[in-house]
Amino acid sequence: MSSKQPAILFVCLGNICRSPLAEAAFRCAAERAGLAVDIDSAGTGDWHIGRPPDPRAIATARRHGCDISQYRGRQICKADFQRFTHIFALDHANLTTMLGEAPDDAAAKVSLLLDLVSGRQGDAVIDPYFGEDAGFEQTWADVTAAAEALVTLLKSQNRD
Ligand code: 4NP
Repeated sequence: MSSKQPAILFVCLGNICRSPLAEAAFRCAAERAGLAVDIDSAGTGDWHIGRPPDPRAIATARRHGCDISQYRGRQICKADFQRFTHIFALDHANLTTMLGEAPDDAAAKVSLLLDLVSGRQGDAVIDPYFGEDAGFEQTWADVTAAAEALVTLLKSQNRD
């Protein structure tokens, strides 16, 4: 059994579209599975600090039974690499940014979110910010698949 409770951080660029949806999908999946886990999201950029998620992300989460209207944007900081056991980047650019910022003694394992999903290894969760509303449903499908895979992984580690 792992001695440290898992602590999961999801990271995109703005922390108003993809990573809040990843946070919400995983919160729901972890709650359903009865997993005790610390969960948060952040952006590598600073444009949306303190702001609520994009209205299209709020609407998408609401359609799937999650209220993210109270989430607020924040930027990843050095302490996150100690606080979290796993940090998941929503795409390659954010993965590269974080690997460049991670301190040498980081506790967190930093990886690409869709590497969790069988058949999707190496894929990015496409940024829906500049696209059509339908992009947010694709984001939800991607982050839900990752959330379910992560619950399965953490449950198997709990049994070890
Ligand atoms: P996110 O999407 O990284 O999924 O939150 C974006 C949100 C805002 C911007 C870019 C991406 N922006 O350029 O402000």
